[in-house]
Amino acid sequence: MPDKIKAIIDKMTLEDKAALCTGASAWTTTPIEHLGVPEIIVSDGPHGVRRVPDAKSLVMSSLPATCFPTASSLASTWDVDLLHKMGEALAEEGIALNVDVILGPGVNMKRSPLGGRNFEYYSEDPYLAGEMAASLINGIQSRGVGTSIKHFAANNQEFQRFCINAEVDERALREIYLPAFETAVKRTQPWTVMCAYNKLNGTYCSENHVLLVDILKDEWGFEGLVVSDWGAVHDRVASLKGGLDLEMPGPQDKRVEAVVEAVHSSELDEKILDESVRRILSIVFKAQETSKGGEFDVEAHHLQARKIASEGMVLLKNDGILPLKGHQHIAVIGRAAKEAHFQGGGSSHINPTKVAIPFKELQNLAGEAELSYAEGYPTDATFHQELIDQAVGIAQTADVALLYLALPSFKESEGYDRPDLDLTEQQIALIKAVAKVQPNTVVILNNGAPVAMSAWIDDVAAVLEAWMMGQAGGGAIADILFGKVNPSGKLAETFPIKIVDTPASINWPGGAGEVHYGEGIFIGYRYYDAKELPVLFPFGYGLSYTTFTYSNANVSVKTFKDADGVTLTVDVTNAGKVAGKEIVQVYVHDQKSELVRPYKELKGFAKVELQPGETKTVSVELDFRAFAYYHPKYQQWITEDGDFDVLIGASAADIRHSLSVTLKSTLELPCIIDKESTIREWMADPRSSAVLGPVFEQIKANNRDLFGSDDDGDMGMDVMDMIGDMPLVSVLLFQQDKLSIPGDEMVDGLLLQLHGKEA
Ligand code: BGC
Repeated sequence: MPDKIKAIIDKMTLEDKAALCTGASAWTTTPIEHLGVPEIIVSDGPHGVRRVPDAKSLVMSSLPATCFPTASSLASTWDVDLLHKMGEALAEEGIALNVDVILGPGVNMKRSPLGGRNFEYYSEDPYLAGEMAASLINGIQSRGVGTSIKHFAANNQEFQRFCINAEVDERALREIYLPAFETAVKRTQPWTVMCAYNKLNGTYCSENHVLLVDILKDEWGFEGLVVSDWGAVHDRVASLKGGLDLEMPGPQDKRVEAVVEAVHSSELDEKILDESVRRILSIVFKAQETSKGGEFDVEAHHLQARKIASEGMVLLKNDGILPLKGHQHIAVIGRAAKEAHFQGGGSSHINPTKVAIPFKELQNLAGEAELSYAEGYPTDATFHQELIDQAVGIAQTADVALLYLALPSFKESEGYDRPDLDLTEQQIALIKAVAKVQPNTVVILNNGAPVAMSAWIDDVAAVLEAWMMGQAGGGAIADILFGKVNPSGKLAETFPIKIVDTPASINWPGGAGEVHYGEGIFIGYRYYDAKELPVLFPFGYGLSYTTFTYSNANVSVKTFKDADGVTLTVDVTNAGKVAGKEIVQVYVHDQKSELVRPYKELKGFAKVELQPGETKTVSVELDFRAFAYYHPKYQQWITEDGDFDVLIGASAADIRHSLSVTLKSTLELPCIIDKESTIREWMADPRSSAVLGPVFEQIKANNRDLFGSDDDGDMGMDVMDMIGDMPLVSVLLFQQDKLSIPGDEMVDGLLLQLHGKEA
C-alpha cells in the first residue's frame, strides 16, 4: 500500500472510515477534510456523460454532452478501435464536465430479447461483450477518467430487478454471465465495479462474498473498488463483509452508525473496513491525478458519434433498392424521421449537445429529389387510420417510401421489460398498407433490441436496423441510404422469429421472487444451434453493398498444446464494386467433451476494410480459453485432449471454412474421485482406474452371479452400462454377501490408497 494512503488510514477515526465507505450525496463520495481526502464525482454513462449541474442532487436534468449510440449499436460495429476512440471522447467530456468516474459500461448478457434495458448492453455472447467493454474502458481510462463496469452480476431483466433472486448454475455463471466482466477486469482494471441490485443464488449481489471477494477480487485480481448500484445495499455491515466497498448514493447516517457499532461490538473486523477504505482512497487519489475543466469539441464528437452510428447500423434486408439512386420523389413516413429516437429511458438518458434530424439529413443528401412527409403513427398505443391513409397517399405517388419507425418508450426502457417483440399495432398496419402501394418500401428501425418482423418483412424491399443510434444517428441513416457509407454492422444478438422460440421464454421473467436460468449455458445462438431452430436473422449477420469471398483458410499448427494456442489465417476478398468492411468471425466446435457443450462458440473476430478487388489476410489467435470450458467439479477452466473444429464464418449461420485441429491438454488436473464417484468416473481417470482395476474385475464377476447368465454367458445386459453410472459404494451394497468387509469400508480403503489420506 502506498505510504500516503497508509498514513491517512492510520490517522482516520473509525467514524471517518465508516463515513468514507458511504457516499456523501447522489453523485459524490465523502471527503475527509481534516486529512486532505477530497470527494470524487461520479456520473452516469454508459454512452454519454450524464453530469447533473449540482452533483449533490439526484433528480435534475443533466448538462449537455454528446449522446453516442447505445450499446446494441456499439456492439454491432464489432470494432474495438472505434470503441477505444469513443472511450477517449467520453473521457474528454468527463474531464470538461468535472467527472471522475463514468458509470458504465454495462456488460450484462442479453438473456432474453425482452430485457427492457438490453439497449444498454452489448450482446448475447460473452466473448464479444468482453472485447467491446475492454476496449471502451481502456479508451476512457487512458485519459485518466475512471469507469464502473456494471451490473455485477446476472442482472438480466428489469422485472423485480431490485430484489429478484437469479438462480444460475455455476457453469452458466462462469461461461456466460461472468466472462465479459472477467475479460474487462483482467485486461483493463476498471477503477470500479458496480454490483447489481438482484440476488444471485440466494444472496444479494451487494453482500455476495463469493462474487465480490472470492471471484472478483481474489481470483481475478480486481484492484479497484466495488460500488453498489444506486440503492442496492440492504445491510451495510453484511455488504462490507461481502466485499462491497462503497455504498451509493448517500448520505446514509444510520448505516454509517451501524458500521461503527459493528466494529465496537466485534461483529465486523476493522480490517475488513480498512481494506475497503484503502480501495476507496486509492481511487480517490488516482482521480486527482487528472485535472478537470476546460471544454470538449462538440462538433468533432458529434461527427464521431455519426461515424460510430453508421458503423453499428445493420442492413438486414436489401432486394437491391439500396443504396438509393436516381429517385425523384421520396416519401418519408414515420414520426421518427422528424423526432429522432436515439436513446433509451432511465439512468443513461443524455442531454444531447445537438440532434441530427433524420428528415433534414436526408434532405441534405437527396440532391434534386423531392421529399414529402407523413407522420404515420402516434406516440402512444392508440390506432389512427387517418395517419395510415395519409402515408399511403404520399407513398403511392413516390418512387420510394422510407419508413422511419421507432419502438415507443412504453415498449422499451430501463425499469420495465418489454411486453412482447412487436412493433405497435399501428406501425405494423402502416408498413403493410404502405408496402401494398409502394414496392420500393424501406423500413428503418430505431429500437434497442430485436423486433419480430414475420408479419411484414416479405412485403418490403429493405430493412435497416439503425438501433438507438445516438444524437448524430439521423445523419448516419442518410449516409447509408445514399451509399455514402457502405453498411458494415453485424448483429451482436440473434433476431428470433417469435418470442416462444427464445431460450429463456419458459423461465421468463420468473415470479415469487425468483427467476430460474433453466437454459443454463444455452443462450442466444448457442440455444438455436442446439435446438436446430430457424431464426429471423442469426447472430453475426449483416449485409453490405458489396460481397466478400473467403479463401486460403489455414491454421499455424494442426496439433497444439492448449497453453500455446493456435493462430488461424484466412484471405478475405472484396468481390464487389464498392469499398466495404467485413467482419470475420471465428467459432470453435468441440468434437467430444465430457460435459455437454454448445455446438459452437465465438472465440475471435476481425473487422477488415477492403477496396474493390482487394484481398487481405486476416489473422486470429485462439488461446487456452478458446478451447476450455468450466468444469464445476474441478472448479476451474479445463481443456480436454481431442479434436476441435475451427469454424470461420461471415455469421453464425454462414460458415465459410472449417479446419480441424488437435489439442493436447497440459493441465494436470487433481484426482477428484470421492465417496460419491461413479464406477465410470473411477475408470475414466487413469489414477483411480489403476486402483479400482482389480476390484472392478471382481465386481463384474459378482454382478454376473447376482443377475445370473445363460449358458453362453449372456446376461441380457451390458454390465458397464448397468452399473457404470452408479456410485461404487452403491454397487458394492448389492454385493455385500460376496465381500469380506463392508462396501463402504472398502471404498474408504480404495480412496486412502488413491489419495494417500482419509477421504
Ligand atoms: C442504474 C445504474 C445507474 C445508477 C445511477 C441505477 O438505477 O441501475 O445503472 O448507474 O442507477 O443512476
